Amino acid sequence: MVEETTPLARRDEATISNRWWKMKKSPLPLQRSSGSSEKRIYAKEALVKLLRWHFGYADFRGKQFDAIQAVLSGRDCFCLMPTGGGKSMCYQIPALAKKAGIVLVENQVAALKEKGIAAEYLSSTQTSTIKNKIHEDIDSGRPSLRLLYVTPELIATSGFMSKLSKICARGLLNLIAIDEAHCISSWGHDFRPSYRKLSSLRNQFPSVPILALTATAAPKVQKDVIESLCLQDPLVLKYSFNRPNIYYEVRYKDLLDDAYTDLSNLLKSEGDVCAIVYCLERTTCDDLSAHLSQIGISSAAYHAGLNDKLRSSVLEDWISSKIQVVVATVAFG
Ligand SMILES: Nc1ncnc2c1ncn2[C@@H]1O[C@H](COP(=O)(O)OP(=O)(O)OP(=O)(O)O)[C@@H](O)[C@H]1O
Ligand SMILES: [Mg+2]
Repeated sequence: MVEETTPLARRDEATISNRWWKMKKSPLPLQRSSGSSEKRIYAKEALVKLLRWHFGYADFRGKQFDAIQAVLSGRDCFCLMPTGGGKSMCYQIPALAKKAGIVLVENQVAALKEKGIAAEYLSSTQTSTIKNKIHEDIDSGRPSLRLLYVTPELIATSGFMSKLSKICARGLLNLIAIDEAHCISSWGHDFRPSYRKLSSLRNQFPSVPILALTATAAPKVQKDVIESLCLQDPLVLKYSFNRPNIYYEVRYKDLLDDAYTDLSNLLKSEGDVCAIVYCLERTTCDDLSAHLSQIGISSAAYHAGLNDKLRSSVLEDWISSKIQVVVATVAFG
């Protein structure tokens, strides 16, 4: 049954009490289309209801529903979807439908909390008060937390592994989602050695489905991700990268008199545009960003050579339109 309270009222309540451990999170009860066996099939309407209730979207996009259905039925899944395709929903909905989920990625927590969803991010950068609160919650028999975002570095520590084992033994670990899963592949441009440690998860938690998500289309990387994570008979979903709403234009740098001037003119002609300029090298990012700022286009560089704090503030400034242009390497994602 659906609660009497409207989604709007629930969101207001969540905003007033923005600390998740105070939230009275009562998810929409789900109707399951088949009975009591472990591998239950969730009715699509019930999942769409969750999507509408929490996120306000009318329906699932692309292969979202297939991925959600797979992990809810306990099956591993490898999901390839383009950037902005909606990969996050593939673990956010299961986390709301079931009791808990672990996700390897950051920066979505604030947006989820705004929607009244009990999510937290656990990392070494958090204050010990927050970390303690999170640990208290997951150690309690009935955690309010639905989504816990952790770093691969943390998940590989023996302390956290044993914590996960305890949660799992209590039946509270329903999904392990690994976002940006291409980072595990040394064939990928973004290889992160810490992701390699995730290969033990499949063995450690044989009953918990693993959902690997990436936007990297190279077949070599996909195969490597599936093998490295030891996914068992995964459902492999690939969503088309064709985006009819995107307009592409190629300008050859060699044919331009001055690439910086051409780019500046383009940005200026677009007015109050929000843009990302990708460069191959960090120094080019710094240089181009300084050039744009000098001619009155607010911009900032973003690359792996900057510290975490600075990168977060650039991201925040860009998202909140304080700056117009980010000049970045692929570190920006
Ligand atoms: N079913 C849906 N209907 C409408 N919008 C959706 C739906 N699912 C997700 N979105 C929206 O699409 C946008 C992109 O989603 P998301 O960030 O999950 O993409 P992503 O595939 O993870 O991209 P990236 O590769 O950049 O991480 C978000 O604003 C999200 O709220
Ligand atoms: Mg994503």
